[in-house]
Amino acid sequence: MYVCELDRPWLETPFMLQGFEVENDADIEAVMQHCEYVYIDLMRTKVVRVTIDELPGSFINDKKRAFVEKDMKAADSTRQNTSNLIKSFIDEIRFGQSLDIQLAKNAVSDCVANLTKNPEAMMFLTRMRNKGEGLNQHAFNVCVYSIVLGRLLGYDATQLEQLGTCGLLHDMGKVTIADEILNKPGPLNEEEIAIVQTHTTAGRDILMSGRNIFSGTVDVAYGHHENIDGTGYPRGMQGHQLNINCKIVAVVDKYEAITSPKPYRPAGDHLSAVAILNQLARDNKIDSSLTLAFVSYLGIYPPGTIVELSSGEVAIVLESNPRQRLRPQVLVVRDADKAPTQGFVDMSEKTVDDNGRPFRIVTVRRPGDFGIDLSQYYDIIMLAFNS
Ligand SMILES: [Fe+2]
Repeated sequence: MYVCELDRPWLETPFMLQGFEVENDADIEAVMQHCEYVYIDLMRTKVVRVTIDELPGSFINDKKRAFVEKDMKAADSTRQNTSNLIKSFIDEIRFGQSLDIQLAKNAVSDCVANLTKNPEAMMFLTRMRNKGEGLNQHAFNVCVYSIVLGRLLGYDATQLEQLGTCGLLHDMGKVTIADEILNKPGPLNEEEIAIVQTHTTAGRDILMSGRNIFSGTVDVAYGHHENIDGTGYPRGMQGHQLNINCKIVAVVDKYEAITSPKPYRPAGDHLSAVAILNQLARDNKIDSSLTLAFVSYLGIYPPGTIVELSSGEVAIVLESNPRQRLRPQVLVVRDADKAPTQGFVDMSEKTVDDNGRPFRIVTVRRPGDFGIDLSQYYDIIMLAFNS
């Protein structure tokens, strides 16, 4: 059965999105723990009850082909190039030199190509964090997420390049903020908050004085902290005064910030970030339809999410199964005693654990929990994406 609505807000339950499939008694128990009754979508029930084995052969072939075509290496070299470019931009800003925005557009063009070819590999890379690459990684991730959202809106390649460039360069003004403030291991005081907020005007000025400038990047650097209800900064503009790229970057920037580690707190987990985004949308701070589109795309367990399984094992989500979004393909990295192990499991095929009990994801963990560093599994993950 496909549950399409609950008797209470989704946010009050662990079932974060608009619907899910009930597959076994354990799922029914989970629903009963949180709800008195739920609504079943009979039309969708028919579709989601089809198992992988029952799918037409063409679907399976397409799926296999999609696996083979994935090219994590290309995605990773795009990330490296983009990362190197941002590093050189940071140096140029520090030395008072003007940026060549065309270089950013070229790098973003590669990101667009890779995202079109292999979105999951690119999304996975946004979860792999290297120490000391805060601004750099944030720029790349916001660029990728912006392009993802633009694709959902039907943007063409040129529009995606422009949007991705806006995402990549939105926070360049942060280079002008002292590291002691950006890396302060505690809450900022009022004066420090005011200083951090100047990164919007600083970003505008830096991008306006660049070469081959694209005005969209200036608008987004200046406007990505404005809120739909006019309570943002620096100008207190309202939703109707903000362009769409500004609104897109505002949504994905917040998601990226919440899921990144900060000097004063660990990275937030995916579901908490989704809950916060939904709340911001309800409070009219960020655009609600853009938020819904982005959150729906990410799903419940996006690639790179660390999940704990009903067996007690801990795994990294590699890829979602489009027909069974609650049962992704995972790399198990901790056994039931939380000791290191390694094993690939397609949860759409394995529905009971080794003891015959229902096998499912029970919770999402934060990046870094159990000492799991995604980059340690880079080679294995590469193999999984290429095999
Ligand atoms: Fe910002």
